[in-house]
Amino acid sequence: NAEKFDLLRKKNAEAKKGGGETRIASQHKKGKLSARERVELLMDQGTFEEIDRFVTHRSKDFGLDKEHYLGDGVITGYGEINGRLVYVFSQDFTVFGGSLSETHAEKICKIMDMAMKNGAPVIGLNDSGGARIQEGVSSLGGYADIFYRNTLASGVIPQISAIMGPCAGGAVYSPAITDFILMVENTSYMFVTGPNVVKTVTQESVSAEELGGASTHSTKSGVTHFACANELEAIKHIKRLLGYLPQNCEDQAPIYPYELKKDETRPVLDSLIPENPNHPYDMRDVVRGIIDEDSFLEVHENYADNIVVGFGRIAGRSIGIVGNQPQSMAGVLDNNASVKAARFVRFCDSFNVPLLVLVDVPGFLPGTDQEWNGIISNGAKLLYAFSEATVPRITVITRKAYGGAYDVMNSKHIGADLNYAWPTAEIAVMGAKGAAEIIFKKEIAEAEDPEGKLQEKVDDYTAKFAHPYRAAARGFIDEVIFPSETRTKLIKAFKMLENKVDKLPRKKHGNIPL
Ligand code: COA
Repeated sequence: NAEKFDLLRKKNAEAKKGGGETRIASQHKKGKLSARERVELLMDQGTFEEIDRFVTHRSKDFGLDKEHYLGDGVITGYGEINGRLVYVFSQDFTVFGGSLSETHAEKICKIMDMAMKNGAPVIGLNDSGGARIQEGVSSLGGYADIFYRNTLASGVIPQISAIMGPCAGGAVYSPAITDFILMVENTSYMFVTGPNVVKTVTQESVSAEELGGASTHSTKSGVTHFACANELEAIKHIKRLLGYLPQNCEDQAPIYPYELKKDETRPVLDSLIPENPNHPYDMRDVVRGIIDEDSFLEVHENYADNIVVGFGRIAGRSIGIVGNQPQSMAGVLDNNASVKAARFVRFCDSFNVPLLVLVDVPGFLPGTDQEWNGIISNGAKLLYAFSEATVPRITVITRKAYGGAYDVMNSKHIGADLNYAWPTAEIAVMGAKGAAEIIFKKEIAEAEDPEGKLQEKVDDYTAKFAHPYRAAARGFIDEVIFPSETRTKLIKAFKMLENKVDKLPRKKHGNIPL
């Protein structure tokens, strides 16, 4: 049997070489790791088990019958990250440019099916020249098989895509359906059509990086959730992200050991809100003042920064945080912020991650740009996402909660479990000046001293509404609390809600205004 064993050794060694030393060296020269190096770095040491190492393509055209590489340009399998099961596929650019053949797609589908059956996340490391051009429609069929599975798996198991090289044409739609996309600065790009086609069709001259690099997608389009400086950073980020997530929709996120201190109050929060209600502050300081030390993982950090979203932990428990950001456009809700937050809320709800919502919102952004780009439908997405969320939901109003935005931002009326307000909260239809100008328009115009009259009416409106006590009197706010005691209150409240059971009416699925 020695010969037979040798044959297996030889084949294993051949598969590990991918497209060969020269192509691996060229990959390294571009600042990129090889597909295998990425998998090794991602998984806990020694835990990766490869599947389908000897799969080869079945194409005969354009000389492909003479060119075979074991594994056919993608490494697939399972292993552990921080001791938890994950499935992975890693495209190998050294084999036909990582292009997707029918068999390459079958390998990816196989591990996706396994991940679904066994309830564990799938991580895709994308580095591919797209459809295997020599194969034509077989390759396109392969893509569609993956998209279909991405869709069926959505909301069942977490799906994470890291873009570590080209990802163009049809290839973009698999990552787009997954829950989180990470991109690497300068060595990765995503676009539906590349710079050459763009030039022909629209006469625009644009580089690949500018059209679809990490910076573009993390700031302009919001397609990517994380832009990472290099591949090692991206891999670290994936591991950290998984730490907040359950394995599947039936599971709970891992609870980290946390010993409660004698005093969990955070006095720093008492001096955070400026005396002048029009002055900004950083909502991230509120977040840090509430959650466990160093536990904040911001998502979409540089996109629609008038709203902050991300994961954190409170006494070791994973939570998803959504907060208006007063230091960017006064924390107003606009199209991008609404869509960004809505998708995050839906992710958290799909995977049993409780929500904490921090409110300081002056309303929706006015203007033709907003209206013509659908602020009505986009704002409705956020409203819908909160309303249908059945995970524990807690709101803290730190300052402004005006108008329809008050309703949208996880108000009691749309099913939030506990709503707190700080004494600095102002819960009203609008700011006092705007309100006085509308309801006392005539009286102010006819007054001998219109300025003085306006001020008198503003003061009157402020005294009546610029506080949380009217809302508290109706039970719309459960408790008015000192900022410094927020963390203590939330530790207890999230624990109290940990066994919450809530169901939506029976339906096929809702019709969120997309
Ligand atoms: N199908 C088959 N082979 C492909 C391929 C594809 N879609 N994309 C790349 N390759 C092969 C190349 O022929 C080359 O093979 P070789 O190593 O035997 O010479 C290898 O992959 C590397 O490609 P190369 O073009 O040298 O790399 P690059 O870094 O200069 O450029 C791309 C990368 C992705 C920009 C470029 O390969 C490209 O434009 N590919 C086609 C993209 C496309 O239109 N895909 C189909 C639509 S989805």
